This record gives sequence, C-alpha cells and structure tokens, in this order.
Amino acid sequence: MRRACFDCHSNQTVWPWYSYVAPVSWLVQNDVDGGRQHLNFSEWDRPQRHAKDVAAQVKQGEMPLWFYLPMHPAARLTAEEKRALIEGAERTLGPQTTPEPR
Ligand code: HEC
Repeated sequence: MRRACFDCHSNQTVWPWYSYVAPVSWLVQNDVDGGRQHLNFSEWDRPQRHAKDVAAQVKQGEMPLWFYLPMHPAARLTAEEKRALIEGAERTLGPQTTPEPR
C-alpha cells in the first residue's frame, strides 16, 4: 500500500524532480490533490468514505492509476502482492463481508 498508493493517497508524497516542471507539475499536483481528497491514509481523524473501495479498485485494476506506473516501477504489484493487498484491505477497511466458515 505504501509503495503503490501513498504518493497520491497520503501526506507522505515523495515528489520526483519532474513534478516541479510545468506542465507535468500541474498534472502531478492535480492527481495528488484528487487522490488525497478521495482517500488519505494519513488522515484517519476525518471520515474516509472511499476506504471501503480500496479492495475493489485494486481488484479491477483501476488503482494505482496506470500512467503512474512507468515512472514508478516500484508501485507495480505482482499478482501475489495484489492478492495480499486486497485481502488486507477487505479485512481492515471493508466492505464488511460475512466471515467465511473455517
Ligand atoms: C498517481 C496517483 C495515484 C496513485 C498512485 C493511486 N491513486 Fe487512487 N486515486 C487517485 C485519484 C486522482 C483519484 C480520484 C479520481 C479517480 O477516481 O480517478 C483516486 C481515487 C481512489 C479511490 C476512490 C475511487 C472511488 O471513486 O471510489 C480509491 C479507493 C483509490 N484511489 C485507491 C487507491 C489504491 C488502493 C491505490 C494503490 C494500489 C491508489 N489508489 C493509487 C490517484 C492515485
């Protein structure tokens, strides 16, 4: 989650050099503003309405945003990592599902 999502969904953004160069700087700022607005892993003191959508977004391949990946190869998740992230998100962030019988 830290590797693939935190740059846009937390206050711990690591700003790359090209983020200071217009017009890329406007695009990057826009994504981070939009990302933080929807979901901010640094601000659990305010409601995070979209937290329950994390698992679905990763499942559907919507997040991380595709154009972010070429410049952030570390954010690429293997199938194994995706599964772990989805499972963890479902357990900790919702949606609340009926626990499977063991
Ligand atoms: C390059 C920046 C960027 C990265 C990296 C990124 N996001 Fe996002 N995310 C956004 C933006 C911008 C939005 C709001 C607009 C949109 O939905 O496309 C958003 C929206 C969301 C939403 C709300 C969508 C909804 O409508 O329910 C969720 C949930 C989400 N992101 C989860 C994640 C997760 C999980 C990761 C990591 C696997 C991730 N994001 C990585 C930029 C990013």
